[in-house]
Amino acid sequence: MKFSTLASVGLTGLSTVLAAPSSVDSRNANGAVFALTNAVNNAIIAFSRNADGTLTKTGEYPTGGHGQGVDFDSQGGLQLSADNKFLYAVNPASDEVTVYSVSGSSLKKIQCIYAGDQPLAISLSSNGFAYVMDGSVATTGIFGFKRNEMTGMLTPITNSTIATSTPIGVPGTVAFSPDARTIIVTNKVGSTIDQYSVAANGEAVLETTYASSGLRPFGAVWGKSNTLYVVESGLPAFGNAGLSTYRLDKVDENPLLKPITKSEKNQQTDGCWVVVTPDEKYAYTASFITNAISSYKVAANGTATLIQEVAASPGEGTEPVDLALSADGQYLYNLQRGGGAISGWKIQADGSLKTLSNSFGAGQGIPVADGASGLAAY
Ligand SMILES: *[C@@H]1O[C@H](CO)[C@@H](O)[C@H](O)[C@H]1NC(C)=O
Ligand SMILES: *[C@@H]1O[C@H](CO)[C@@H](O)[C@H](O)[C@H]1NC(C)=O
Repeated sequence: MKFSTLASVGLTGLSTVLAAPSSVDSRNANGAVFALTNAVNNAIIAFSRNADGTLTKTGEYPTGGHGQGVDFDSQGGLQLSADNKFLYAVNPASDEVTVYSVSGSSLKKIQCIYAGDQPLAISLSSNGFAYVMDGSVATTGIFGFKRNEMTGMLTPITNSTIATSTPIGVPGTVAFSPDARTIIVTNKVGSTIDQYSVAANGEAVLETTYASSGLRPFGAVWGKSNTLYVVESGLPAFGNAGLSTYRLDKVDENPLLKPITKSEKNQQTDGCWVVVTPDEKYAYTASFITNAISSYKVAANGTATLIQEVAASPGEGTEPVDLALSADGQYLYNLQRGGGAISGWKIQADGSLKTLSNSFGAGQGIPVADGASGLAAY
């Protein structure tokens, strides 16, 4: 148990933890970063972002649910709403999602709700819905909620899981398209991408399953241009991680994913997490086994080209997992599962990364080599 701080704070029954000193308020104007411990007593470690992109820990917030202590093996276990007012955290070992309201880097728990069997990722739509990806072998699928955009609260749509195309796909993520009418789920095993259509009432139906352009599609994010960025682990082959892009086109009124860049390799191993800058000029992937962040340039037509195989390395044994960008797209953060810390970089005009630190939060509650999964930033 690596939670001495949390355990001792927990005894006092924390809900509005560690009231921030007033000096923190000015820092909060620069946003915050949140990391999910995924420990048995699951918790969020909160940081305020300083004007120079550096992080200062400001609190620890138990989710009230349980993590699983081993990696989610997914992208998107911790998600902020687009207005940064609410934060959603999965609890895979207690089948719940915890909802917080966000004020600066302070969190207030407002709901903990059943979300199907082993929730591992969550995606919020632009029109008041949310879908969780459940990754248990018994029920692999997506579980839908209506989301009150004023209060942040979730209400189940069907209270049951809508299956993916394969129960043994070991899905990597769930992601709503910008127009909220399409959801995709990556299936690592079998290398496919499922596409669901979403009705105006939020109900989702599995429509199509595509062959992935690369081996073991894992994390995926949409850009505003309707481009989908998918990172591929490439395992079991080493040096086989890559980034593919797809564009959601309408064919006879039906949305259809069209491959653009087909697995542009970065020579790294086990690429699992991906982000794209808000202007969609650059994309970054994190490779777990080779401890590398790779950089890509993105053209207006959605083509992605590798810039650097290793744009940054958090260090040997750091095991980079989730990536997150500041709301202004100027800073990149990465959770280290191995290192139990967060790396931060300033994104330069040419897409290169200038290191701020590889040890934000070290020794401050993020488990070391014990399954930390999920990072969100604004
Ligand atoms: C949803 O399912 C959970 C767990 O089975 C149950 O506790 C809850 O009452 C259900 N809610 C609704 C609205 O059916
Ligand atoms: C996409 O844009 C890039 C950069 O402008 C260009 O090099 C490439 O040929 C374009 N590809 C297609 C298929 O239009």
